[in-house]
Amino acid sequence: MKSSKIAIEIASYDNETHRNALFFVLNDYAMDEMGLNKPLASGAKDDIIDGMNRNGNFFSLMASIDEDVVGIANCVESFSTFSGKPVINVHDLAVLRSHRGKGIGKKLLDAIQQEAKKRDASKITMEVRIDNRARNLYSREGFGNNEPPMSFWIKKF
Ligand SMILES: CC(C)(COP(=O)(O)OP(=O)(O)OC[C@H]1O[C@@H](n2cnc3c(N)ncnc32)[C@H](O)[C@@H]1OP(=O)(O)O)[C@@H](O)C(=O)NCCC(=O)NCCS
Repeated sequence: MKSSKIAIEIASYDNETHRNALFFVLNDYAMDEMGLNKPLASGAKDDIIDGMNRNGNFFSLMASIDEDVVGIANCVESFSTFSGKPVINVHDLAVLRSHRGKGIGKKLLDAIQQEAKKRDASKITMEVRIDNRARNLYSREGFGNNEPPMSFWIKKF
């Protein structure tokens, strides 16, 4: 039997194949109960991908098996005024439902950590729901709550 190798690469927001793959996996995540529980608006692809591109601080990693993109991480670089160094925020981490539990999420997290070190970041941050099983993976990878714990506040427009 052929063994499937997971390949990780940085997406190009100008590449139509990459744009479609990023949107397809993001939409699968949106439909998850840990996402929005519903698909993204039809026609939202260009707004989302062009928005990340225009922002200038986003980068996206894609995990592929046999050329098929099965997982993505959308990350954004910000800056810590306390450490004077970049901070990498994992905005979305998602693996297609059909491919979960096979180590793809871990590979993406490892690649994010490599990229963060390359950028001399002082830390990686992410928002994760209290009831998200992904916390098991994050704990194994060395992530944890801030000490003292902080909560994620929001004001919607
Ligand atoms: C979280 C996620 C990216 C992990 O990718 P993965 O390839 O499944 O992860 P791995 O195989 O490397 O590691 C397995 C771990 O992933 C997590 N995981 C697996 N299936 C999951 C699911 N359906 N929902 C959430 N987390 C899941 C668990 O932490 C699991 O560890 P456990 O079996 O000890 O609980 C992926 O499961 C996913 O896309 N989940 C839905 C979207 C989501 O919740 N993203 C994170 C938002 S903070």
